[in-house]
Amino acid sequence: MNLELLTELIEKYGSPLYIYDNKILQERCEKMMKFKKTLEAKLNHVKINIHYSSKANSNPAILKIVKNMGLYADSMSPFELKMCQKSGFNKKEILYVCNNIDKNEMKLVNKEGILICLDSISQVEAWGELFPNTDIMIRINPGIRGVGHSKKVITSGKETKFGISEENFTELFRVIKKHNLNLIGIHQHLGSLFLNDKIDDYIQGVKSGLELINKYFPDIKILDLGGGFGVPYKPEEKALDFNLLADRLYAVLKDFLDENPNIHELKFEPGRYIPCESGMIIGKVIANKYENKTWWIGTDIGMNQLVRPSMYNAYHEINILTQNEKKKIVKANVCGNICESSDILGKNIYLPLPNIDDIIIVKNAGAYGYSMASNYTGRLRPAEVMIYGDNSEKLIRKRETIEYLEENIVWD
Ligand code: LLP
Repeated sequence: MNLELLTELIEKYGSPLYIYDNKILQERCEKMMKFKKTLEAKLNHVKINIHYSSKANSNPAILKIVKNMGLYADSMSPFELKMCQKSGFNKKEILYVCNNIDKNEMKLVNKEGILICLDSISQVEAWGELFPNTDIMIRINPGIRGVGHSKKVITSGKETKFGISEENFTELFRVIKKHNLNLIGIHQHLGSLFLNDKIDDYIQGVKSGLELINKYFPDIKILDLGGGFGVPYKPEEKALDFNLLADRLYAVLKDFLDENPNIHELKFEPGRYIPCESGMIIGKVIANKYENKTWWIGTDIGMNQLVRPSMYNAYHEINILTQNEKKKIVKANVCGNICESSDILGKNIYLPLPNIDDIIIVKNAGAYGYSMASNYTGRLRPAEVMIYGDNSEKLIRKRETIEYLEENIVWD
């Protein structure tokens, strides 16, 4: 995408702005479907379904492409569920993988006929009281430390809030029996973002889960291995090798599935992998300053628009399309417009010293970008635009307005 197009988009839709490349999004869906087919061919009698985890980005324009490409969906809140339904996923194609939800939410999931995956005994108890004799899935915690780019996104092991661990299975069976629930599937999600160098750790986690299933859950029909498929954010990182992953999964699943012929469906829940690389957030350089021997490049992309760098210390590649003829390269911290010292998009990066109003591009922002955006300090969440191969564009979410934020305030 060139400077002219980006300038035009900012003029039209405001700054900052989320932009998605339709072609890259489709390619990632295709890769996922190819992985499904490769593994399915190896594990002949098992059907594989890929549920896109809509928490990564639940814009219906994205969900519709995902649906058209043959993927299913996973949601974890009434809003995500609604977006999935409105984007065309039917009840069989949606899975509700939730954590600490109240009874009203359970009633909604049941009313809509969506399969639920529960992650604590007290949630199983609550569901059982409301809907005895129904099908459920359970999220287990395989006990082994999971995988992830930060401690904050590792979701298996002794330090996380997720799933039910082995020591509580006896009590789990008691509650399941009490309400005559039908436990049809086991789910585990080890954490978010592994690449080729961590496939071994991922496989270890899978093995731990399979051992627990062999020991305690011989009758299940569905095995859900969650998400976590990473993307390369840093220039030196390599894309996940799905052939290698399929081979490694086959090696651990083959015997297991032969011994458990009742398991006829395998699910995965990739979130990040699908939209991450198709998305970027663009904004403007607002101010430059040199203080304490450091260049600070101030932009309008605050931590409320893209929280990953400040929340996880996550790396996002930053480019500045500068009009500055001199192109003097400086080492700089690129920051936003929020009143927190953690409001930094990139630390110690080398960039041409920009002019005010130059365009800044923050890459790989299609997942956990808009979906984690907020109105902190009263800033408006940006618009989102989809770009097609011929450079034509479509607005897929309007920029918020102050009036929109005012709407829920009760003035008297
Ligand atoms: N399934 C479950 C139950 C999950 O909790 C998640 C992500 C996924 C699937 C999808 O995981 P993925 O394929 O995207 O790794 N905000 C963080 C990531 C948090 C992930 C939360 N759960 C980030 O920006 O890195």
